[in-house]
Amino acid sequence: MDTPALTGGRAHPGPTWQRLGRLSRDQLERLVGRVGATPVAAVTVTVDGRRCEVLLKLEGHNPGGSVKDRTALSLVRGLETAGTLHPGDTLVESTSGNLGVALAFIARARGYRFHAVVDPHVTAENLSTLRELGALVDVVDSADENGNYLRARLRRVRELCAADPRYVWTDQYGSAHNPLAHYATTAPELDAQAGGRLQAVVVAVSTGGTLAGIGRYFRERRPGVRIVAVDVAGSVALAGRPAPRLLTGIGSSQRSRFATDDLYDETVFVSELTAVATVATVRERTGIRIGGSGGAALAAAAVVARDHGLSRVACVCPDDGRKYEGSLFNDRWLREHGLADWSGTLPFTDLTRSPSVPAVVR
Ligand SMILES: Cc1ncc(COP(=O)(O)O)c(C=O)c1O
Repeated sequence: MDTPALTGGRAHPGPTWQRLGRLSRDQLERLVGRVGATPVAAVTVTVDGRRCEVLLKLEGHNPGGSVKDRTALSLVRGLETAGTLHPGDTLVESTSGNLGVALAFIARARGYRFHAVVDPHVTAENLSTLRELGALVDVVDSADENGNYLRARLRRVRELCAADPRYVWTDQYGSAHNPLAHYATTAPELDAQAGGRLQAVVVAVSTGGTLAGIGRYFRERRPGVRIVAVDVAGSVALAGRPAPRLLTGIGSSQRSRFATDDLYDETVFVSELTAVATVATVRERTGIRIGGSGGAALAAAAVVARDHGLSRVACVCPDDGRKYEGSLFNDRWLREHGLADWSGTLPFTDLTRSPSVPAVVR
């Protein structure tokens, strides 16, 4: 996934999501056609002396750098099909960043305006991409008692919609087009890339759309596959009590409307320290940079492999680790947040890249 900064003496263009703001509408429209069909990389983890192959579904390869490109496209198509969205309308969404980038580039390609309501946890990388893409950006600043901003973001979205009839909320928290994106694309791709031979699929949860879509697909087509939800302490996405959280993308301060009990078998809670340690280990051993929620999913995959004696599982890595140069991959940030000492936190004793990397399936 990572390429050297310089190739043959010429500057490497870097990931597509870093250049979105410089592309024409036609170029962006072509990129809309390239959402999905992401590659997988195979790694082998050793847990309690047993080896398990884990397929990493690298969603950072989407043009916007995350799995949320699929969600955004599905949400926008849903509104277009329903006749709710017209050229010149303004899409609005509450987002921790990745969905905002996805909606910003799709909106620009299709001739809509986009208004992102974010909070101070948004990464500097996503914020600058949003601005380059011409999105209007509101950063809310009133956190609830646990330091979460979701309520304030949703309040702002409702205010904006009430003030202007041409504002259309994509509603990632309630629209059936969110899980549908993953039922129709993410899950069948992964199933095909694994040759139909997975024992478990492990998915981090925020709105629960990815988990619900993947869960429904495997329940229908391969009911023997174990579906595992991954969450962090302090999130109430599936259960639990609210508390302050640090990682973006994973967890929520409201209950998922999509992740119903019938769609998954168990939840594994991963500490933020373990997620960070896993992300760093993957980079060190394989050169692949995944984000914190992908690190949490891989750590959970190791736990599930150990608990159930599994040898072939997959986990979704929702975004590109290069979005976190200023945080997860920044020693100072890690020290400031008490995440620099990883000793004893990894759930596996070894991690290596497996030679076989299945092809991309369109
Ligand atoms: C980095 C990252 N990981 C995981 C998720 C969780 O996805 P979902 O909202 O489908 O549960 C998101 C969603 O925003 C994300 O941005």
